[in-house]
Amino acid sequence: MLSTSFTELARCEVPIQQAPMGLLSPPGLALAVARAGGVGTVSAPIGVEPHALAAQLDASLDASAGALAVNFITDQVDPEAVAVAGARVRMVDFFWNTPHVKLVEVAHAGGALVNWQVGSLPDAVLAAEAGADVVTVQGREAGGHVRGDTPLLALLAAVLRAVDVPVLAAGGIAEPRALAAVLAAGAAGARIGTRFLATSESGAHPEYVLALLAAGPEGTEITDGFAKCPMCATLPRARVLRSAIAAVDAVGEEQVGTIGDADPIPPRAGLPPHKDVHGHIDAMALYAGSSVEHVTAVRPAADVVAGLAEGAERLLRAW
Ligand SMILES: Cc1cc2nc3c(=O)[nH]c(=O)nc-3n(C[C@H](O)[C@H](O)[C@H](O)COP(=O)(O)O)c2cc1C
Repeated sequence: MLSTSFTELARCEVPIQQAPMGLLSPPGLALAVARAGGVGTVSAPIGVEPHALAAQLDASLDASAGALAVNFITDQVDPEAVAVAGARVRMVDFFWNTPHVKLVEVAHAGGALVNWQVGSLPDAVLAAEAGADVVTVQGREAGGHVRGDTPLLALLAAVLRAVDVPVLAAGGIAEPRALAAVLAAGAAGARIGTRFLATSESGAHPEYVLALLAAGPEGTEITDGFAKCPMCATLPRARVLRSAIAAVDAVGEEQVGTIGDADPIPPRAGLPPHKDVHGHIDAMALYAGSSVEHVTAVRPAADVVAGLAEGAERLLRAW
């Protein structure tokens, strides 16, 4: 068993948090990861009303599954919604905002731990000072919106020297060797997004998944080319498949598709295609981490968790 300060604190079995990814990480994915011994994470919609979040979580989550987390992004976070989450899951998770003691206190009052994902050393120190129980450092290898510009191992080393709480590593981890490497470097676990897009429980559109499977070692790039979204309003920086950048350049100014049958999606929208999106999927925001070359097959999330954890443990023992 890969026991770390994070698994002890979060009362989970393996040091893996499945990253929140909006509608691409539906409750079924989070529950599967939690049942497999990791931390399963769902996303709170940006600006969600507390009562709506309560109804959503009560209808979709099962606390007996294991360690679950709810993620909030941007500054549009209602403390009452945080209280709703804190009373229902083991961990409340924040990203793309400045660490704030009030939000930590509200989550703690509900009985939850707090995890704050950051992209820089100063923000990691602020998160620890605000009372976060766990700090996740996101390296520039990460898929999706990238907060900082430092490679993961360099940021991890700097943050480990500066804070006393367990630190998770995020960005470009999709196979056992990378998980073993960050654990050997002092991380208490890994937060993994891209690998979980190619699972049976993923909410990603099937064409998006095929594009991930087809991508090679140099298949991703950080771009400001998909800048129409709430997170982009503060910093339009995200790692996507290079193929999507080329495809959106080719589609021109027409809408690239719709959500459901009606809601138009403009070109360069930051919305990654979920299963209810239609149109030029290849020209949408196909977020992916630099590790996409290791995403070579769709598997059940439980197999992904077990494969990563068992493989990393074997490597660490051999080393
Ligand atoms: C498709 C996608 C959507 C994401 N959405 C969110 C999000 O809503 N909230 C968040 O905190 N992080 C989000 N992230 C970033 C992850 O928290 C994490 O930093 C990243 O997935 C780690 O890199 P990896 O994808 O290479 O594993 C997203 C990542 C991806 C790939």
